[in-house]
Amino acid sequence: METDPERKPHPVLKDYYGDESNKRAFVDDLFDRTAPYYDRILRFGFLGTGQAYRRYSLKQSGLQPDMEVLDVATGTGPVAEEIRKITGDERITCVDPSRGMIDVARGKLNSRFIQGLAEDLPVASEQFDRVYMGYGLRHVRDLREAFAEYFRALKPGGRCMILEVSRPRTKRQMVMARFYFRDFIPFLSRVLTRDPDGHTLMRYFWETIDQCVPPEEIMETLESVGFEDVHREVQLGVFSAYMATRPA
Ligand SMILES: C[S@@+](CC[C@H](N)C(=O)[O-])C[C@H]1O[C@@H](n2cnc3c(N)ncnc32)[C@H](O)[C@@H]1O
Repeated sequence: METDPERKPHPVLKDYYGDESNKRAFVDDLFDRTAPYYDRILRFGFLGTGQAYRRYSLKQSGLQPDMEVLDVATGTGPVAEEIRKITGDERITCVDPSRGMIDVARGKLNSRFIQGLAEDLPVASEQFDRVYMGYGLRHVRDLREAFAEYFRALKPGGRCMILEVSRPRTKRQMVMARFYFRDFIPFLSRVLTRDPDGHTLMRYFWETIDQCVPPEEIMETLESVGFEDVHREVQLGVFSAYMATRPA
């Protein structure tokens, strides 16, 4: 029987973790260690604009009070915090593999936290009206596995939204993005945290953006697991919001 080809989010980044078998441990360790200052990097590095953008995107997805919501790659909870503002409700299921990140998020939200992976979601099927993932796509083992799990977790007619930074298309945007994400943000992270891990996190962040599969492949993979009405909204040439609906 023919098996589906793998859909890795990016090629192996040897300089960081050697081979694919070490990626999971490398990523978890990096997020565990940088969890205490992740919010500081977001606040200063992106001048607080990230939260407004998350809120805007959540509204675009049709999020309403009383919806059952799953936040995958919840991290320290920046997406979940905006969900709470819109729905007025902390009844959010939050999944993340990093114990360190979950510990920080627990201090801010009275939600349900589960340690787990997007590609093997520890949740029941057809339970959620919305599934969100903020800036975690590049860290999954396989895109198709993760998207199939989102499809399974959603109720028929439910929607998923994935926020991700994309490699810019024009030369000018690429020069600016490279300077900002590859040079400035890692430098700022080092100054803010006085810890080389903050610098490594943001350098790795850029490498995974630079090497990430193109948006067309991400959308085609969403369609391949059964999603319909798959589309992408782009802001400033780099901030992508992918939306997809499970057929009713
Ligand atoms: C850059 S943070 C994003 C946090 C938050 N969603 C935000 O909007 O800022 C990426 C998060 O993805 C998590 N992560 C890494 N691999 C994952 C996977 N396979 N499945 C789900 N989450 C994962 C990390 O532990 C980390 O907390």
